[in-house]
Amino acid sequence: MAAQKTRLTLHSQYTVGPVDKRLFGGFVEHLGRCIYGGIYDPQNPLSDKNGFRSDVIAALKELCFTVMRYPGGNFASGYHWQDGVGPQNDRPTLSEPAWQSIETNQFGTDEFMRFCDVIGCSPMLTANLGTGTPQEARQWLEYCNRPAGTLYADKRALNGRQDPYGVTLWCLGNEMDGQWQMGHMPAEHYAIKAHQTAKLMRDICPDVELVACGSSADIMPTYLDWDYSVLKEIDFLVDYISLHCYLDNRGDNTVDFLASPRRIDRQIESVDAVCRMVQAQKKASKRVLLCFDEWNVWYRQTSKAGEWRAAPALLEEIYTLEDALVVAGILNSFIRHADVVKIANLAQAVNVIAPILTGPDILVKQTIFYPFQMYAARRQGISLIPRIEGPDYKSPSYGTVAYIDASAILGDSSLHVFAVNRNPTDTMELEIVLCDKALKQRLNADILTGNDPKAVNSFEQPDTVKAVMLEDVDFKEGKARLNMPPLSLIAVTFEIE
Ligand code: AHR
Repeated sequence: MAAQKTRLTLHSQYTVGPVDKRLFGGFVEHLGRCIYGGIYDPQNPLSDKNGFRSDVIAALKELCFTVMRYPGGNFASGYHWQDGVGPQNDRPTLSEPAWQSIETNQFGTDEFMRFCDVIGCSPMLTANLGTGTPQEARQWLEYCNRPAGTLYADKRALNGRQDPYGVTLWCLGNEMDGQWQMGHMPAEHYAIKAHQTAKLMRDICPDVELVACGSSADIMPTYLDWDYSVLKEIDFLVDYISLHCYLDNRGDNTVDFLASPRRIDRQIESVDAVCRMVQAQKKASKRVLLCFDEWNVWYRQTSKAGEWRAAPALLEEIYTLEDALVVAGILNSFIRHADVVKIANLAQAVNVIAPILTGPDILVKQTIFYPFQMYAARRQGISLIPRIEGPDYKSPSYGTVAYIDASAILGDSSLHVFAVNRNPTDTMELEIVLCDKALKQRLNADILTGNDPKAVNSFEQPDTVKAVMLEDVDFKEGKARLNMPPLSLIAVTFEIE
């Protein structure tokens, strides 16, 4: 049977907007084995002089994260940053309520900054607006960003770091609409607390970029109302509002799951609509933009019970090929909304719902490692509006969607194209047309695919699902043609005229 056909049409002048490099952010939380036993493991023979696992650092570098969120997550709402600075022997060991674990505080602000430096990304800190105070957030900002000469900046210098770290991005709490959150409160209370915190922080560092907590999910009963109330009160003291989403295949229906990034499209467009409404009501010139600071597939390992152990194995999701294709679909959505989504953080980076899973002397790159790597390597440029013409299907939960889901970024003399074939049985011939310029040749091309949507990588078989070079890309009259097998992701960079 001849392959079905889809045409992807682009034009270099039909743009969405520049792709912010911070769309390719990560997230590390004091949760399970993300920090301890993942990134930081000083006793491990594989660790470097900083106590960082060298193999983990090497794998993280391949993902080219641009920004890293820390220290939570739910953990942030009970975290008092001063517990994690100063001589390590003097730091308290505490019971940690968010994940019912033991926190030794051996890794804290200065270790995190070193970690960011080593992997080459910028830090993004979540202030504690649950059990913490606005004053505490300001003091942490002083510790990180002010030159020596005042109490907390001097503490930083005493702890070995003379120069300020210059942390630009700060989240004002985490998921404060969630009843599971320490210090959970109604929107109006949160808005006042966030407002006070923003004022205190801007007072000492006017240039910081602040992220208000939006609804923690599109399934929350207060979804959008919460965002509206917070934005009304906070009065443009913030630059971004946060969004979180974890997609799932609880219904065990592959094609429906592959359509689920539609949820991300809707969430972005709905929260943006609220931002624009408040902007219009206030007749303001400033537009609050979106920070999607937690996203991934997550539904199998959900227990929060760390049984009061240090670094318990929690949320160690094993990812499949279909999960990887959904991760690609989410990245497509971010790129298509690059005008409004400026920051996004894959949750999380190591062991906890993560692309990298460690054993004592081994690591495995999970299936979701590859889509992130394929996109992050081709992130620079301007997002173009993709027009898809081709067969579609009716997904039970998300309506009619095209089999091919795509996004594109126009770089300097180059075009990056990303496409997912959601068809579980049929190959799709994809024609790529850049209307006003000819595609000359492919500079590089990768493909991720497999026969089994449930295929996984393991310590024993680490390469079952991995990206490989896509060999066959044909060119005719400035257009490109390639075949996409069932359940596949391609990422191609073309040289353009
Ligand atoms: O990423 C895991 C958890 O999911 C985070 O701690 C929390 O913010 C979210 O509910």
